[in-house]
Amino acid sequence: MERTFLMIKPDGVQRNLIGPIVARLENKGFKIVGAKLMQVSEDLAKTHYGEHADKPFFGELVDFITSGPVFAMVLEGDNIIKTARLVVGATNPQEAAPGTIRGDFGLTVGKNIIHGSDSLESADREINLFFEESELVDYSLIN
Ligand code: CMP
Repeated sequence: MERTFLMIKPDGVQRNLIGPIVARLENKGFKIVGAKLMQVSEDLAKTHYGEHADKPFFGELVDFITSGPVFAMVLEGDNIIKTARLVVGATNPQEAAPGTIRGDFGLTVGKNIIHGSDSLESADREINLFFEESELVDYSLIN
């Protein structure tokens, strides 16, 4: 079954948006198989965002993501990477549609509330970076 990685960033945690965001994910019917509040280390931040290492905003991105706790999650389901990204919305909250998490809660691309994996490869990589397999729960949703 396909899995994706979502992370409520320090701005979302500071603004007490864990509950409202998780409620949206649950209301949609998504299955959460792992979740934790954690502090991202500088090493983890640099690895996670490695593909942006030569971008001008890389330092700012690493400083921001390590500035306070994040709420990391793993979701599981058919086509979950794409459907979760639809609920998350476009990277730049100024372009994200109303009704999406970034469209409703975010205002700037630097502080865009939440991260979501963009491909099977990045989902695998990001889940393995943030979670041990033993932290993920195997269960069935009763619908
Ligand atoms: P995310 O989905 O976490 O993946 C990479 C992040 O880089 C992205 O969300 C944005 O928060 C951030 N980002 C992208 N473009 C910029 C930018 N121009 N300035 C600052 N941060 C950016």
